[in-house]
Amino acid sequence: MTDPLTPTLLTALAAAAVLVLPKAHRRLQLSLAKHPSLHGHARMAQRVARWLPGFAYDEARFFAADEAPPEVATQRRHGFHRLAGTLNTRHAKSIAMTKAAREGLSDLQFTGAYRVPFPFSPYLREHLAVGSFVQASDGLTVTDLDGERFIDLTGCYGVNLFGVDFYRDCIAEGLRRAEPLGPVLGHYHPAVAFNVERLKRLSGLDEVSFHMSGTEAVMQAVRLARYHTRRSHIVRFAGAYHGWWEDVQPGPGNPMPPKNVYTLKERSEDTLRVLRTRRDIACVLVNPLQALHPNTPAPGDSGLVDSGRRAGYDKAATIEWLKALREVCTARGIVLIFDEVFMGFRLGEGGAQAYFGVQADMVTYGKTLGGGLPVGVVCGRAALMKRWRAERPADLCFARGTFNAHPYVMTAMQVFLERLETPPVKAMLADIDGVWGDRAARLNQRLEAAGLPVRVAQLASVFTITYTEPSRYNWMLQFYLRERGLLLSWVGSGRLIFSHAFDEAAFDEVAARVVDAARAMQADGWWWRGPALTNQAIRRGLLREALAERF
Ligand SMILES: Cc1ncc(COP(=O)(O)O)c(C=O)c1O
Repeated sequence: MTDPLTPTLLTALAAAAVLVLPKAHRRLQLSLAKHPSLHGHARMAQRVARWLPGFAYDEARFFAADEAPPEVATQRRHGFHRLAGTLNTRHAKSIAMTKAAREGLSDLQFTGAYRVPFPFSPYLREHLAVGSFVQASDGLTVTDLDGERFIDLTGCYGVNLFGVDFYRDCIAEGLRRAEPLGPVLGHYHPAVAFNVERLKRLSGLDEVSFHMSGTEAVMQAVRLARYHTRRSHIVRFAGAYHGWWEDVQPGPGNPMPPKNVYTLKERSEDTLRVLRTRRDIACVLVNPLQALHPNTPAPGDSGLVDSGRRAGYDKAATIEWLKALREVCTARGIVLIFDEVFMGFRLGEGGAQAYFGVQADMVTYGKTLGGGLPVGVVCGRAALMKRWRAERPADLCFARGTFNAHPYVMTAMQVFLERLETPPVKAMLADIDGVWGDRAARLNQRLEAAGLPVRVAQLASVFTITYTEPSRYNWMLQFYLRERGLLLSWVGSGRLIFSHAFDEAAFDEVAARVVDAARAMQADGWWWRGPALTNQAIRRGLLREALAERF
């Protein structure tokens, strides 16, 4: 006789399985769609960041962290102190002001500490100072307090697309136009109406809102997507930067645990499956710059512990991926947001949408669009931009901001947008792939011919330096580049941002200096390599050092 309880138990188990299994299945799908690296696991990355102990190399270790023999360490030491001496003398005033300002300027302390991998940082800062103050700019150059001119490869974090004088003109002309009204807020300068019309045309979208920074534009786009879909989660891709606001910057850098955000793999069928099956996804954020290094963060030199940095741009693969994303977002009612704060206009006046041939539901812009002044912009379909519901008038999606549509910013933007239509500016945006691809190829040929372990990869005019041989010292290149008069931002060799005002001759001058700098670095022994040195061995060694420090 069977136990009468058995069928009941089985039924209950089956019912539980029906309830639990789909959930477990969806959870598994989500796990599969995460990038295997720490960049795909924000929570774990945060834990590792909290665990990792600080330690610093002494002088002996600083020059032989790769177990280089004494003669190589001595060669490096001589090279280092010669370089430090040159920079300290040549840029004395800029360095003195930087040192004096450092104590009261948090950002300067932060950027100064994170120019190179942290174990090298204290010794480096003690001996090799870098000035952060400049006094003038002209054409392609920036001049520091000592009157030393650098060729500017910082690109002003991406703002400087057409050359610094272009923005100087936008601001001057914008000021002239805004002056009769002055800094009046709450009502609009007529430039606003012009900008709205022009941005609607350029974005192919129905409505526009103005904000004070790219971060704010992304915040508002995400908030609207959540409001209209009534769903909680956003999808961002591993490594992608969308500003420093909580939800789009989960993991290290943000003290709060990740909330309502899925960080998924770019270019992955697993991700498409998640988008097809989950019901809680409001929007997907795409930063087109990630096409240069999918699933990895912006390549800063503070993370350049070995030569594992990879970058390379495949246009066909990017288009295929974006089209697949578009399709699934349309099918599932997920808002597709292109975050063009960085790349907008650098890929042409129609931005990433026109360049890749994919229409987004919302687009964020910023940086260059302000004509040199701070700005953030959201463009979107009318149904997504609306901030209230007629049928539920108290259920709002509030977003304003005291300085939104500031007249001085709006007039500078108007000048920017007008000039975008002029032949000289159009010429600067013509044949982007051909012009910049050829330039990168030329530089790579020179580097290869000179037998240097350095290459560049590029998307339009945004370059990344990569390294072909395992080494612990690649980050030193930023200082040799500085010695050759090339100005990089604090992230170092990971980001060289050219303005489109660089002509062939100016680019070739930069290329010659890059080769020259790398030759000097090679001559000083930094790229000496023992037979056992691999990128994996470097990473293992670092882990051993961290464990020894911790326990
Ligand atoms: C793609 C992207 N989105 C958003 C932001 C944030 O813009 P902002 O620095 O103006 O807040 C940035 C800044 O670099 C960015 O590159």
